[in-house]
Amino acid sequence: MASEGTKQNLIVVSNRLPLSIKKVDGGYESSLSSGGLVTSLSGLTKTTSFSWFGWPGIDVADPTEQDEVRKSLDEHNAVPIFLDHELAHNHYNNFSNSILWPVLHYQSGIAFEDGPWEAYKRVNEIFADAVAEAATPGTLIWVHDYHLMLLPRLLRERLAGKKCAIGFSLHTPFPAGDFWRNLPVQKDLLRGILNSDVIGFHTDEYKRNFVLCAEELGAKVEDSGIQFDGRDVMAEKFIVGIDPQKFTDSLQNEEVQNRIRELQRRYQGMKIIIGVDRLDYIKGLTQKLKGYDAFLDQHPELSNKVVLIQVAVPSREDVKEYQDLETELSTIAGRINGKHSTADGCPLIYMHRSVNFSELTALYSVADACLLTSTRDGMNLVSFEYVACQAQRHGVLVLSEFAGAASFMKEGCLTFHPANMSEMVDALYEAVTMSDEDRKGRYETLRHFIETNTSAKWGEAFIEALTKHLG
Ligand code: UDP
Ligand code: G6P
Repeated sequence: MASEGTKQNLIVVSNRLPLSIKKVDGGYESSLSSGGLVTSLSGLTKTTSFSWFGWPGIDVADPTEQDEVRKSLDEHNAVPIFLDHELAHNHYNNFSNSILWPVLHYQSGIAFEDGPWEAYKRVNEIFADAVAEAATPGTLIWVHDYHLMLLPRLLRERLAGKKCAIGFSLHTPFPAGDFWRNLPVQKDLLRGILNSDVIGFHTDEYKRNFVLCAEELGAKVEDSGIQFDGRDVMAEKFIVGIDPQKFTDSLQNEEVQNRIRELQRRYQGMKIIIGVDRLDYIKGLTQKLKGYDAFLDQHPELSNKVVLIQVAVPSREDVKEYQDLETELSTIAGRINGKHSTADGCPLIYMHRSVNFSELTALYSVADACLLTSTRDGMNLVSFEYVACQAQRHGVLVLSEFAGAASFMKEGCLTFHPANMSEMVDALYEAVTMSDEDRKGRYETLRHFIETNTSAKWGEAFIEALTKHLG
């Protein structure tokens, strides 16, 4: 791990830690957390050292047990912030994931409630107390994502005189002002974020939306930046990425090579389409399965010659919308296989579970196309990971125009509107029938993009901007 100069004095704060703790047989076990935030920040650990503060994902009331969890996370430079069950439930499930997440992803029908909002405020305060206590003069504090929008302001109040710099990165879209304003507490959230020194977004569109909202709140917006409460605030696009080398290395691994050969034998003569998504309504999984059904209807000549392998990673399972979606997807998946399977095989493998890294890279590597159908998505790092595993095959990325990644990768992939079924069907057909030459040309563009925009570069650029604000 590189650790030069100010980079040593960096605190990263997010709701989700890289490891989530579970109680198993009276003891505690940790497992790797899912999702793009953890992927991007973990990709940064090779070049930058930092301590990572966050919620361990479980209520641990007993102080001795808290120490046990603290020690197990310490090896990973992770620091747990313990929250009691009810508070965490209201903050995480009821406010962050039932009220805020839908607004950030343009889901209509906001059902605001005071209870969850109070919990959200309280959790942000608990985080602020823990981080402010750990910060020393010159510490760079980098806050991540929608669970902690009030944190920059609460930190600034607590850090007066300590000369720390505060950064905030949003890993979701920031919606257009007309939509955002539906949320009754939006001004508090904006004020929270605007107390940062540097604010990072995944795309220019999200940044533009945010800046217009800030202006309505009274911030002065100039070409050089934003002025809020007498301070200079930088709001910028910082392109997040992955660590492509990690995927290249995994593909050299003998276990992965064996698995690749096994999968190639199993699906010989067939086109494999891969999909990897958290089971979340923003990923457009219903649209994906329905689109695939239509694709099979329209192309009977591809019967037994094509398979969609869909990994749906369990996510936020205490939230009703996610439970309902799971039921809906299993029903549609069953219907597709009922309708299109023959005695020779079925066209859809639907897995509701996570897969380990070796299996994931093997699946990416054998797939001729990757189909991602997000109705809105901050960036979508799965699209980068697929490209990282396709140096040999030059598979085709079929990507919804609503994924943040599409704004950077459209030259190299096939884009479509996720609610336009015939566009999806045509894009998928083009992907599985594309000439080698076309695939190679597109692939080189994509490869260049993911190699140029890595998680390490993202982190370094953000930290450099933040360091300038130490003043
Ligand atoms: N992923 C995971 N568990 C799995 C399969 C995939 O954690 O079983 C990872 C995947 O490799 C990727 C991340 O989850 O790094 C998903 O990131 P993305 O930005 O695509 O979407 P998000 O889940 O953050 O919305
Ligand atoms: C998205 C969010 C992250 C979150 C991840 C997984 O990427 O932007 O903040 O960590 O999904 O979701 P979870 O609710 O399990 O943390």
